[in-house]
Amino acid sequence: MNIQEIIAKKRDKQELTKEEINFFITEYTNNNIADYQASALIMAIYLNGMSKEETVNLTLAMANSGDILDLSELGIVVDKHSTGGVGDKVTLILAPIIASLGVPVAKMSGRGLGYTGGTIDKLESIPGYKINISEEEFIKNVKKIGISLIGQTMNLAPADKKIYALRDATSTTESIPLIASSIMSKKIAAGASKIVLDVTYGSGAFMKTKDKAQELANEMIEIGKMAGRETVAIITPMEEPLGRNVGNTLEVIEAVEALKGNIAEDVKNVVLELGSNMLKLAGKGNNLEENESKMLENISNGKALEKFKELVANQGGDVSYIEDTNKFEKAKYILPVILENQKGTVKELKAEEIGKLSVFLGGGRIRKEDKIDSAVGITLNKKVGDKVEKSDIVAYIHSNDEEKGKEAVQRLKKIYIIK
Ligand code: URA
Repeated sequence: MNIQEIIAKKRDKQELTKEEINFFITEYTNNNIADYQASALIMAIYLNGMSKEETVNLTLAMANSGDILDLSELGIVVDKHSTGGVGDKVTLILAPIIASLGVPVAKMSGRGLGYTGGTIDKLESIPGYKINISEEEFIKNVKKIGISLIGQTMNLAPADKKIYALRDATSTTESIPLIASSIMSKKIAAGASKIVLDVTYGSGAFMKTKDKAQELANEMIEIGKMAGRETVAIITPMEEPLGRNVGNTLEVIEAVEALKGNIAEDVKNVVLELGSNMLKLAGKGNNLEENESKMLENISNGKALEKFKELVANQGGDVSYIEDTNKFEKAKYILPVILENQKGTVKELKAEEIGKLSVFLGGGRIRKEDKIDSAVGITLNKKVGDKVEKSDIVAYIHSNDEEKGKEAVQRLKKIYIIK
């Protein structure tokens, strides 16, 4: 068996066997297949798709490329994952709320992918926060404080880590088999017994239609079932960015505000829908409305924010930044965006365009080895449905490069569609 033959087979729209998929994943994880060969195969999968059986085999091979944690001694442990979005800071808000209600949360997140943001990049903008702790520490943390949020630096689904970085740099993100295997391999490896998936659709999501999102959701639920993990999927729109900020530090600050009760309506809806289902899966109550009330209560009484601080401190982060978010380093240029001579209502604010703008400012990667700039991004004062007067500042661009900032202002003016 060799990689050229496997690439040729997928290029020619043939189905790969379990052995061929296992060969690719094992040899690529062990650095015996070059990035350019893996990229070619990933592009062939992107273009020609995979059967359900191939997707399941790919997922299991990726999950088995490293360790698979056994968290059974911790009882029911829940995990959550989003298929990607722009301004999606849901995990930072949801995970501490759920943990504060006594349900252990053990989650391995990803970095930014394409024009979408990644929870790990956001967490890393908190000075000192360690995303790459050992497997023992991960389990110890969940035992000790009921929550741990980590990156893919341990030996958990290492194949996904490599393939994910390649996909980000080769425009091969929007693919059902690649997304399903990426997410479910991480979920299986990280050990939680119950999984809630946020499957997004619309401009800022990898699935552009609700039907496609449902197809992706069904595939992941099926994989979860086969792996013995109860999986629930919620389908949510991602036409415009979620919440008011896009950018790593900006989103952490928005999440802290949300945990203090200042939460944007769209973010709140997603957090409550996912969270009420997580509590149900964990056996904490079948009534979703009552579960939502419990979540809101732990925001009002400060317990959720306390849990977030505990999480940050426990993973080496400097909690003083959470206590006073003014301490976060700001971008050098914070430029207002005014839509001269335009008055009316915001009709459209395409999330994909705003995600690309954030990448342009340095908030995401063009090459897989790029360092991201945590401080840059976009604050949206006006969103779809909001009224706009001629002199209103509809948004701010946060940039560390004056020219780029000015260009971003002009680009954002065109993204706002006012009627
Ligand atoms: N999140 C992941 O972890 N992988 C994907 O492919 C998309 C979103």
